[in-house]
Amino acid sequence: MPNASKYGPVALILGGSEGIGRQFAEQIAAKGLDLVLVARGGGPLESAAREIRLAHGVNVVTLTRDLTAAGLEEFIDGVLGAHDIGFTVYNAGATHGVGGFLDAPLAKATNLVQLNCTGPLTFAHKLLGARRARKRRAGLIVVSSMSGVCGSGLVATYAAAKAFEIALCEGLHWELSGEGIDVLCAVAGLTDTPAMRRSGVSFTAAAAAGYVAMDAAEVARGALSQLGKAAVWYAVGQQTADAMRALPRGQLTEAMSAASAALFQVRAR
Ligand SMILES: NC(=O)c1ccc[n+]([C@@H]2O[C@H](COP(=O)([O-])OP(=O)(O)OC[C@H]3O[C@@H](n4cnc5c(N)ncnc54)[C@H](OP(=O)(O)O)[C@@H]3O)[C@@H](O)[C@H]2O)c1
Repeated sequence: MPNASKYGPVALILGGSEGIGRQFAEQIAAKGLDLVLVARGGGPLESAAREIRLAHGVNVVTLTRDLTAAGLEEFIDGVLGAHDIGFTVYNAGATHGVGGFLDAPLAKATNLVQLNCTGPLTFAHKLLGARRARKRRAGLIVVSSMSGVCGSGLVATYAAAKAFEIALCEGLHWELSGEGIDVLCAVAGLTDTPAMRRSGVSFTAAAAAGYVAMDAAEVARGALSQLGKAAVWYAVGQQTADAMRALPRGQLTEAMSAASAALFQVRAR
C-alpha cells in the first residue's frame, strides 16, 4: 500500500467489522491512518474498533448503518462533513447462501443490487467528487467476486451485481488515474470469513472438493499492494482469472454454477 499520507488522514471501511473488511482496517491502521468503520452490527464493530485502537494507536470511529437502507446520500454527506476521508474500501456485499432467482422474494435481489451497485456507485461519486473538488488525492477499493466474471446460476443477482463493480472500477480507473485518484476492484475468490461460515459453507468440505479458501488478510494485503497500479486485482491470480475468462461463456457459467452448488451442498439443477 502507498504510504499513509498519500490518501490520509482518514480511511472509511464499509463493512469493516469482520472478515476481509476487518483485515483492510487492520492493515490500513498499521500504516497510520485513522479509521471510520461502518457495519450493521454493534458487537463485532465495537470489538474491532477497540482492538485496532489498542494495536495501532489510531483513532477509530464506528458507525452502525445498513448500507441498503434509505437515505444513503444523506448518510455519506454526514460522514464527509464529519471526517476528512481520503481512502475508502467498499467491502460489504456478500450473498449469504444460494438459491433459485424465482424462489426468493424480489426484495432479496433488489437488496443485493442496492448493496453492490447503488452503494459503491453513490460512495464513489460523492467521495471522489469531494476530493477532486479540493484537488486532493483519493483511493477507492471496491471488493468484488469471481462470481462477477460471468453469469452464474443459484447466485444470479449476486453474479450480475459483482460484474457491475468490476466494470465500474475499470471505467473509473481509466477516467481518474491522471487526477491523483486511484480506483481498484479487488476480486476475491473463496475466502474464509465469518459471514461465509454463518451462511453454511463448510471450508473443510469445500477444500476436500477442491475449493480451497483464501485467508482474508491475504486478500486485503494483495489488494492494497495493487492500488494505484491496476484497475482490477484478482485474488486467484491474473493467470487463473485469464484462463477462466478465456473459456466459452456458457462453459464458464456451467462451472461457476456447479461451484456454487457444491459449496453450499445443494443440487446444481
Ligand atoms: N467470503 C468469500 O468467500 C467471498 C468470495 C468472493 C467475494 N467476496 C466479497 O468479499 C466481500 C466481503 O465478504 P464477506 O464474506 O466478509 O461478507 P460480507 O457480509 O460481505 O462482509 C462482512 C462485513 O460487511 C458488513 N456488512 C454486511 N452487510 C452489510 C450491510 N448491508 N450494511 C452495512 N454493513 C454490512 C458486515 O457487518 P454486519 O454484518 O454487522 O453488517 C461485516 O463488517 C463482499 O463484497 C463479498 O462479495 C467474498
